[in-house]
Amino acid sequence: MNVTIVGAGFVGLVTASVLADFGNDVWVLENNTEKLGNLLKGKIPFYEPGLETLFLKNIKVNRLHLTSSYQEALAKTEVVFVCVGTPDKGGRVYLQYVYNATAGVARNLKESAIVVIKSTVPPGLNDEIERRMRKYTKVDFSLASVPEFLREGKAIEDTLHPYRVVIGAKEEETAQKLLALHEPITGERVICDPISAQMIKYASNAFLPTKISFANSIAVLCDQCGADVEKVLGGVGLDRRIGPDFLGAGVGYGGSCFPKDVAALIGFGRKKGYNFKILKAVQATNKEQVNYFLGKIKRLCGGSLKGKKITVLGLAFKPDTSDMRDASSLSVIAGLKEMGAKVTASDPVAIPFARRLIDGIEFVEDPYQALEGAEALVLVTEWNEYRSLDFSRVRKLMKSRIVIDGRNVYNRNMLEQQGFIYEGVGK
Ligand code: UGA
Repeated sequence: MNVTIVGAGFVGLVTASVLADFGNDVWVLENNTEKLGNLLKGKIPFYEPGLETLFLKNIKVNRLHLTSSYQEALAKTEVVFVCVGTPDKGGRVYLQYVYNATAGVARNLKESAIVVIKSTVPPGLNDEIERRMRKYTKVDFSLASVPEFLREGKAIEDTLHPYRVVIGAKEEETAQKLLALHEPITGERVICDPISAQMIKYASNAFLPTKISFANSIAVLCDQCGADVEKVLGGVGLDRRIGPDFLGAGVGYGGSCFPKDVAALIGFGRKKGYNFKILKAVQATNKEQVNYFLGKIKRLCGGSLKGKKITVLGLAFKPDTSDMRDASSLSVIAGLKEMGAKVTASDPVAIPFARRLIDGIEFVEDPYQALEGAEALVLVTEWNEYRSLDFSRVRKLMKSRIVIDGRNVYNRNMLEQQGFIYEGVGK
């Protein structure tokens, strides 16, 4: 099929590369000239395992094309995916990129096509998008919604093998064509109307952080009573009605999706006259979890961090990504600085991105070098290189042997045997 992707961001580039790899002819439209220039040179502006290879492979065989021209991108199109961002702006979902992109599509559409909203938008927005688009075109189009459920760091795998493919379409013919396009992708199919499709996306991205905040609350109680949160939630998760995933306690959730979508669903509820109290508690719990974690660091370091070197391992909001958006490291580092600590931070890929957001700290790529003379090691992002640190080497480098594990990845016995003071979250 001839496919157009509007927006060469994370979702757009992954979707484009995968659809091209299936044999479709894919045009990617990007209006940021600097970004487009880099992409034309084969440079992906962020780190995502496997993406660059897939992208370059499909450019090479001429199935993937890049342009800043709507006319060129839409010349033969049958299906257009709108993949532009819907960032949070002061507690509101900013929709202008979606309106601009869909207006651009409407103005340049030559023949009937399916326009799919892949951007995460409030349920029901398609009516407003359609009303605006019809002002610019007489060409017939069908507006659908196919939300994405991929995780950063696992984007290719999640796109090829998602738990489900949700197709929100008003017309049977549109649903069938989108089903055919998604044929090579595994996973259950959910066919519904666009509003329900958009609600599935919001509800999923609100339920998962609810599980995490619940796990973090249980972890705090485990700390108070001496239970082991991993055993506790491991046991809880064995109940198939609950499930084992996203019960990982730690320093809280971050990223470009959960914080934004929880806020958006609260806002959507407010507009509809509903006070979404559970989600407000999820937000508050996530914020408090960082303070709780900072309290641990302060206590373990003898009640004051003034002038002490604290090494933070991990800056990205999770491993295998360079994304710093709403990363827990940002609030942890801000809190450490406020308490007077001298912070050194390390990350395998996110340092250049973190530099733009954090000042007054030292960045060191090599974790061992970062730990030299440190009072405490604070793990915030569980990259594999930090999971497998050589602690017999680390113990010789640090000033005090204190490890505070914000992701519960280290083995207490092993560390205590080596003379470390160890604390996780709830274990
Ligand atoms: C999330 C969803 O998992 C995807 O399904 C969705 O498509 C995506 O948002 C999106 O809307 O685009 P992502 O933000 O990439 O994906 O990352 P996750 O793996 O879900 O992790 C989010 C945050 O939760 C991270 O900070 C992670 O450390 C934290 N987390 C995750 C926990 O604290 N505990 C857990 O048990 C799991």
